[in-house]
Amino acid sequence: MEILDNILKEFDIEYLQCKTMEECNALRVKYLGKSGKVTEALKEIKNVPNDEKKAYGESVNKLKVLIEGRISDLNVKLEEEAYQKELEDMERVDLTVPAKESRGSLHPITITQHKIEEVFKSMGFIIEDGNEIETEYNNFEAVNIPKNHPARDMQDTFYLANGQVLKTHTSARQNYIMRKYGAPLKAIFPGRCFRNEELDASHENTFFQLEGMMIDKDISISNLIYFMKTMLSSVFGREVKVRLRPGFFPFVEPGFELDCSCPYCGGSGCGVCKRSGWIELCPCGMIHPKVLEMGGIDPNEYQGFAFGLGLSRMAMMNFEINDIRVLNGGKLKTLKSAHTK
Ligand code: PHE
Repeated sequence: MEILDNILKEFDIEYLQCKTMEECNALRVKYLGKSGKVTEALKEIKNVPNDEKKAYGESVNKLKVLIEGRISDLNVKLEEEAYQKELEDMERVDLTVPAKESRGSLHPITITQHKIEEVFKSMGFIIEDGNEIETEYNNFEAVNIPKNHPARDMQDTFYLANGQVLKTHTSARQNYIMRKYGAPLKAIFPGRCFRNEELDASHENTFFQLEGMMIDKDISISNLIYFMKTMLSSVFGREVKVRLRPGFFPFVEPGFELDCSCPYCGGSGCGVCKRSGWIELCPCGMIHPKVLEMGGIDPNEYQGFAFGLGLSRMAMMNFEINDIRVLNGGKLKTLKSAHTK
């Protein structure tokens, strides 16, 4: 019995000196391990006289439970301390210190898009979103480009296994919007488009357009011309002239390529307009009666015009970027320098 008391006294001293998990583990081995002090004391029972065996056994077991408990408590405590220390040693980030890096900003395309949207909003247009993955029907059939039509060649794109396509133009949203709102209708719908292109400074497989539609009674080409002139003057912040050349798009009839007098030099000739004084800017035209019909609108009652704006192209002009690939690239330096222009 005295031996047991001594074991406990010794344990208590060593226990108090124990500062790390390793030391705690060593302590466990020393007392409770295979040849630990408590284990040895248990084995001693064979040398204890029979009438004392019971009391001795109980005492050793009590001692064992006590030591086990203390070691386990100590373990929890040391583990917690180690964790706290790890937290303290961890590199700290003070979120209240101003960043060394300059702040991020919106992408040139987003800035340009917002600017154009403001102009249209002030003219009472609604702004719609579009899908990037479209059905072949919406992208082609619904805008009068049936299967095997040669116009599909100009807009080769990425076909998905389920037959859907990455939309080649924002016109893919025309049908949905006509069905959703009916006539009369004034809407713009910007979006990301995809085509299978040979890449160069002015061709990308991923680019942005912004499309618009206006449908009402008695809409004619003069409305289209007047509207485009007003809208572009607003977007560029200066009075511009427009001129129309014939252009072919299966979903408009007649169709045009609209040129705008160069908003940068006022028409006298500069780098942006390649000294011509004009920039080719907006494919447009009167919406084809078949397209109206497919959109659930009666072409005998309503007419309208549609136009496409090359949003990527506008952003490039706006920020004097001369390679379209910059817009999708991750080079912050280039994008940032664009902002400061
Ligand atoms: N969707 C046509 C294109 O991407 C542009 C366009 C839009 C033409 C609206 C006419 C009217 O080439």
